[in-house]
Amino acid sequence: MSSKELKTPYYMFYADEFIKNYKDLENSMKAIYENYQIAYSFKTNYTPAVCSLVKSLGGYAEVVSDMEYSLALKIGYAPQKIVYNGPGKGSMLEHCLLNGGLLNIDNFRELEQVCSIAENNPDKKLEIGIRVNFDIGNGLHSRFGLDSENGDFQNALSIVDKIPNLQVRGLHFHISRARGLDSWKNRIIGMLKLVEKHNLYNLQYIDLGSGMYGKLDPELQEQFGDTPSFDDYANVVACEMQKFYSDKLIKPMLITEPGTTIVSKYFHVFMKVLDIKEIRGKNFALIDGSFHNVGEICGLKKVPMKVINVNNDKNYQDVDFVGYTCLEQDVIYSGYTGNLGIGDIVEIYNVGGYSIVDKPPFIHPDIPIYMLLKDNVRCIKREQTLEDIFAPYEFVAVEAQ
Ligand SMILES: Cc1ncc(COP(=O)(O)O)c(C=O)c1O
Repeated sequence: MSSKELKTPYYMFYADEFIKNYKDLENSMKAIYENYQIAYSFKTNYTPAVCSLVKSLGGYAEVVSDMEYSLALKIGYAPQKIVYNGPGKGSMLEHCLLNGGLLNIDNFRELEQVCSIAENNPDKKLEIGIRVNFDIGNGLHSRFGLDSENGDFQNALSIVDKIPNLQVRGLHFHISRARGLDSWKNRIIGMLKLVEKHNLYNLQYIDLGSGMYGKLDPELQEQFGDTPSFDDYANVVACEMQKFYSDKLIKPMLITEPGTTIVSKYFHVFMKVLDIKEIRGKNFALIDGSFHNVGEICGLKKVPMKVINVNNDKNYQDVDFVGYTCLEQDVIYSGYTGNLGIGDIVEIYNVGGYSIVDKPPFIHPDIPIYMLLKDNVRCIKREQTLEDIFAPYEFVAVEAQ
């Protein structure tokens, strides 16, 4: 299949570049701290082909719901390679706990469930991780995990201590809006201080979540300014781990949970220009996709894009590319100046994060995904149909009388 034959709108996943990038992150960390592990954040983009590729690269799955946990099992992840996080766990918490998954509890209700499972399974040695919460000076009052300063974390450790077949095996931390190196320094230092303070020298893992900058296309790089490279993060995080654990017997696994960090750049969406019109001096180009297909990035930044001219084009000034939805806010790109014609293809870069997973089938069925791997293009998600969307609904005849 050649990409020239594909009907718009569609996503293209550039798998070879994804693999290279994945290995770059892994190599940067492992060069300094060997026991490093990537756990891929499913919620960012759980396209099964991507999750399967991560598995083949030796990655773990990082999941935050029973649906994602079950998906990881379906794709073939062993429970021992699944990190189960988040405040929205369901009954698969028990499966994870009993089968050696990396279960990071978020609150005391989850700890109560864990304790009761441990009491009901006295012959099984069970282990959990605890998500901790401390201030890293980024100005965000995070609601996740247990406060490590108000006594809650200490209290959780004491509760676990009293249960003979339960043990704390890991610490987890994640916070958003903290992609800078200072934030990463503060989170690793904060974790290592907890290890010291609570004498947690037998931990199996320290999980720092994610929130790194990935590699950026030049247009995005310009908007973000100077951003750290994977080597820069490794020089902070892996170095602190290496220093701290150099004289310790047990060197725990260092986990990070990249999502957007490793996937965003490697998805592009291709859409077609359906119409161009001028309204009171402003130009609008209607395309056959929507802002949902691009994801939150188009509301935050000017997305990198390219117009592939296929028609006798005319030059336009200051065009807004707008989607098919009936929403005024469906603006994908503002201020394009250049050649444009009906039928031209608009390629938007860096759309792999929170587009595919966070998109309702709004007005139109969802669009297909193709994967480019070793010069072959193959479909990894077909176009959604009316039947797919309406399968859960009851088609009952409802009458007013
Ligand atoms: C617990 C957790 N881990 C990992 C991630 C993914 O982080 P990123 O997309 O910055 O790589 C998130 C994103 O919010 C998260 O909440």
